Amino acid sequence: MSSTWSPESWRSLPAKHMPDYPDNAALADVEKTLAGYPPLVFAGEARQLKAQLGEVARGNAFLLQGGDCAESFAEFHPDNIRDTFRVLLQMAVALTWAASCPVVKVGRMAGQFAKPRSSPVEEKEGVTLDSYKGDIINGMDFDESARVPDPQRLLQAYSQSAATLNLIRAFAQGGFADLHGVHGWTQGFVANSPAGHRYQEMADRISEALNFMAACGITEETAPALGQTEFYTSHEALLLGYEQAMTRVDSTSGDWYDTSAHMVWIGERTRQLDGAHVEFAKGIKNPIGCKVGPTMEPDELIRLIDALNPDNEAGRLTLITRHGAEKVAETLPPLVRKVKQEGRHVVWSCDPMHGNTIKSSSGYKTRPVDRILAEVQGFFQVHRAEGTYAGGVHFEMTGKDVTECMGGAQEITAEDLADRYHTHCDPRLNGSQALELAFLIAEGIRKEREELQVAAAS
Ligand code: PEP
Ligand code: CO
Repeated sequence: MSSTWSPESWRSLPAKHMPDYPDNAALADVEKTLAGYPPLVFAGEARQLKAQLGEVARGNAFLLQGGDCAESFAEFHPDNIRDTFRVLLQMAVALTWAASCPVVKVGRMAGQFAKPRSSPVEEKEGVTLDSYKGDIINGMDFDESARVPDPQRLLQAYSQSAATLNLIRAFAQGGFADLHGVHGWTQGFVANSPAGHRYQEMADRISEALNFMAACGITEETAPALGQTEFYTSHEALLLGYEQAMTRVDSTSGDWYDTSAHMVWIGERTRQLDGAHVEFAKGIKNPIGCKVGPTMEPDELIRLIDALNPDNEAGRLTLITRHGAEKVAETLPPLVRKVKQEGRHVVWSCDPMHGNTIKSSSGYKTRPVDRILAEVQGFFQVHRAEGTYAGGVHFEMTGKDVTECMGGAQEITAEDLADRYHTHCDPRLNGSQALELAFLIAEGIRKEREELQVAAAS
């Protein structure tokens, strides 16, 4: 970090994908108000997540990160939060069970509002408007006034994040996530899907194991971990004025933490080494993610790693690769090789969503489930070949029965996409597709870990 870093040092650098507000004084007022609001997370929790990600970097745990592409004010409802949380729990249990590996659970939740867009404008029937940039910035309606950035939205995003996080904490610690309730987590359409059936079989075996453990004296009283779970929040740190307002000095360490989430990441479009987003991330002590797409060069990646993690601390930096199923075998190996050669400690995680977006024949933006799976499989193969650890996955998903990604066991077709296409931005996996993928990935991790064990023993 340069000696001149401060929570606002990003302001003198070029910042891509940030909105132009018509009234900067009104924005400054809102940012000042926010800076006086309570932090959403405590620095100690961010340190705990960093330590757990350190275990992922060392190959002793697996990272599961997922949630909406964009949270929205319109879809703010306890059932939506519960459903996404529940599917993430189910996925985590499937991964833990099949791979015998602790899973670090991080939601794209409670703050995932700001969106970089591939085009600054949207055109419809001859009318051109500024693009929708996420509910924290402007409105989605195709209407000129809705698209004007409104600072009041920062306050609404804060309050929605606070309420969401509060419910997540209650679910994680208040009994909902108790492993004894593992059967009850499958509800509605997921229960009747092939992945749901597979899940029920696994839940039966987990229940048997819990009964056996209880008979041996290991119960919730002796092992409280059975009754609750740790769940962390994350989002893209795109709207830097909001992130700055949430950045505070931690009284226990004297360090700066962005208290808007446990972890924040830098997007593929804003990872310029001399840009505002990288500058901001340098000075906060949270665990940081950075998207890494197919245009990244190995030397550039090392410079970026050194800027973001100068102490080479395992767990500080998660590289979220998103190359696309077709490119991953070609463009990921040089990066992985270089990072290994240079001895940098990172978590390698795979985002199989953003490199696999296509336009369907019915006109919808979609992602075929088989391409998503192919990228994850490619990611595992690359790491196996390079002798590195494939440490995590990053999904855009929801617990709802949406029809946004094509394929999967439900065989969603291009025509079916119109049925329940609700996303505010990119197409998400629905609950059943997400669980199905978790089972398939669990197989991959199990193989990977068996090979690591064999290698370590020989
Ligand atoms: C995202 O994660 O929603 C996103 C915009 O991804 P990327 O920066 O990788 O394109
Ligand atoms: Co997205």
